[in-house]
Amino acid sequence: IRVLSVASEVFPLVKTGGLADVAGALPLALARLGVETRTLLPAYPTLAETLGAGTELARIDDLFGGPARLVAAAVDGLDILLLDAPHLFDRPGGPYVGPNGYDYPDNWARFAALGRAGALIGQGLLPDWRPDVLHAHDWQAALAPVYLAFGEGERPRTILTIHNLAFQGAFPQSIFAELGLPERAWSIEGLEYYGSVGFLKGGLHAADAITTVSPNYASEILQVENGMGLDGLLRGRADALTGIVNGIDTDIWDPNADPHITANYTTSDLFRRQINKRALEAEFGLAESEEPILAVVSRLTWQKGLDVLAESCDDILAMGCRLVVVGSGDRMLEGSFLSAAARHAGRMGVRIGYDELLSHRVQAGADALLVPSRFEPCGLTQLYALRYGCLPVVSRVGGLADTVIDANFAAQAAGVATGVIFAPVTAAALREGIGRLLRLYADPALWRELQITAMRSEVGWSASARRYKDLYSSLLQDSAP
Ligand code: ADP
Ligand code: GLC
Repeated sequence: IRVLSVASEVFPLVKTGGLADVAGALPLALARLGVETRTLLPAYPTLAETLGAGTELARIDDLFGGPARLVAAAVDGLDILLLDAPHLFDRPGGPYVGPNGYDYPDNWARFAALGRAGALIGQGLLPDWRPDVLHAHDWQAALAPVYLAFGEGERPRTILTIHNLAFQGAFPQSIFAELGLPERAWSIEGLEYYGSVGFLKGGLHAADAITTVSPNYASEILQVENGMGLDGLLRGRADALTGIVNGIDTDIWDPNADPHITANYTTSDLFRRQINKRALEAEFGLAESEEPILAVVSRLTWQKGLDVLAESCDDILAMGCRLVVVGSGDRMLEGSFLSAAARHAGRMGVRIGYDELLSHRVQAGADALLVPSRFEPCGLTQLYALRYGCLPVVSRVGGLADTVIDANFAAQAAGVATGVIFAPVTAAALREGIGRLLRLYADPALWRELQITAMRSEVGWSASARRYKDLYSSLLQDSAP
């Protein structure tokens, strides 16, 4: 099976969140199952070196106002196709946001171009490679299945994966005419979404199959409360929707081989984790102590429920634990974590910013990871935490509920518990969850058993990659004559 994956970020080339991790790891896992994936990604300026070393495969004369090229490059086992369109992508700033902190005003054109290029490849743009399946990720790639559905001739089967329904790519109606789609695409069955152009909405209609990144989120988004305006459409397409839980790259996230942590360890020499804890204390200016360190590694946004943690810092520290926060995002939240850390110097440390390697050191040295999300399609940090024996404390939503087993009485007795789950996302419930965690921590033998169970959890890609492969196969079967 040949798959064209279309994504706006791919680890290790460009990453703002979990989407990149998934788009970077899934092709490697699929390759082990004999599925060949090429990944289409915009050539952002940070990729100049990769672009320079690549091989040009095709040209597009005019892609939303300028010429474009497709350049093939091999990066860490990934077969990347860079969409080189300098008028759209070669500019300072992040993938979506300019140096001024605002979305680029032409994001609609930038990501319509990504979708358009994906569709063209699906229709045979590359001389000797044509995908059987086009797999688009999130709204940024969602026009690919739309262009194919409204296009002519043979086309690959299409899948759209929802990583986060909160980002829908909605733009004013005025851009519709620029998209080069037939008039009939401006309809309820096409891109029209309450009078705007909806990229994700259009893709959800057009794709042959829809997936999202955990089974629990797949059922949550069918409900009005969690559907973010798309639940009706999704209910209509419930037969085409499946939830496949994300995995993680267990080679990159391996406490026994991780070059970014002070001491490597396994389930049989867990005591070595203590060395990482001491290093983490030093790094965050915490006084050496046996009190557990609770950590956060996250975008600081409403989704992640971290305002609830921010308002509870004083109470939580008073319960007898310490806090380490690594993240960036909402300025108010950054400020309130920083001021809490200033009030509690020596017991709470904060690092504002994005630091991939620091996130490894935190997972290896902290005792628990807090993920109090209001919604969470899957979540990856709790999976890294499980693998590193850093017990996750998570809210009972989305993929968090699918991947962590609460240490309640029955689960402890059965020896399957891997963390703590609390609900709802309120300060009181969070404190209660942390209270339970601290009682577990107070029993060293039990704690060690929980860590070992967590570290043995199946968090790799193999089972889920197989499910994607089965989905690809079933789509191809459906389309066979
Ligand atoms: P989301 O994609 O919603 O942000 P995920 O848990 O799926 O949530 O993925 C987040 C990814 O980004 C993880 O790999 C996590 O380690 C990483 N990450 C988030 N914030 C930071 C940060 N400040 N520094 C380093 N890595 C971070
Ligand atoms: C999104 C979601 C997150 C998920 C990630 C990768 O960013 O917020 O829950 O893990 O995509 O699928």
